[in-house]
Amino acid sequence: MERLDKVISTQTSYSRKDIKRMARSGEILLNGEICKNSDVKVDPQKDEITVCGEKIGYKKHVYYMMNKPKGVLSASNDRNATTVVDILPEKFKRKTLFPAGRLDKDTTGLLIITDDGDFAHRMLSPNKRVYKHYIATLDKPLNDTVKEKFENGIVLADGTKCLKAYFEKLSDNKALVKICEGKFHQVKKMFLACSYTVVELERVRIGSLKLDPDLERAQVRELTESEIIQIFDEKTD
Ligand code: URA
Repeated sequence: MERLDKVISTQTSYSRKDIKRMARSGEILLNGEICKNSDVKVDPQKDEITVCGEKIGYKKHVYYMMNKPKGVLSASNDRNATTVVDILPEKFKRKTLFPAGRLDKDTTGLLIITDDGDFAHRMLSPNKRVYKHYIATLDKPLNDTVKEKFENGIVLADGTKCLKAYFEKLSDNKALVKICEGKFHQVKKMFLACSYTVVELERVRIGSLKLDPDLERAQVRELTESEIIQIFDEKTD
């Protein structure tokens, strides 16, 4: 059993103070009855809690897929910039959400937002070999040496050696790149090491999980259980 205000505060973005106020004004229902005391003990798995007309489903963790738009920061909060957590619909917000892996402000596409630190670590750790797939648009036509360089492990301008990456030319100036590391600006720096500038970058897949083509930029939806598994089940060589 847990306190009602604690359950609501972990499942929403409301503070304990908000919850107390809402309870006093009759906006919280417990099993269909107005509950004015937010200290009362409840069973989060069994009791039905409604706040301002919205039922609060109890979930230990949440996992969202966002189609990240340009111009939004991959962070939980920032004093000056709008973040991916800021643009979540109110019903998805919780206090401890963060993006699992950062995309640059001008990078678009598949971003996972969660409050599960162990999951994020498993997805991001290079040792787990979860490949992130990007489509990069370059400033000029690609030559045939780039694939080999990517596949041998690029050495960045500062001497950092990258793990071997998968590379497939899609058109004159577009390539699909798969990496399992997340160094700062990694794809852009890998191309820079081959004298190319990335002019557009989109993440299209993580493991076997593809960006949902029905999600428009800035839209977000919850992942299904099988989609969470897909992240970790890509067959790699
Ligand atoms: N590599 C980059 O350079 N930028 C991103 O946003 C992701 C990977």
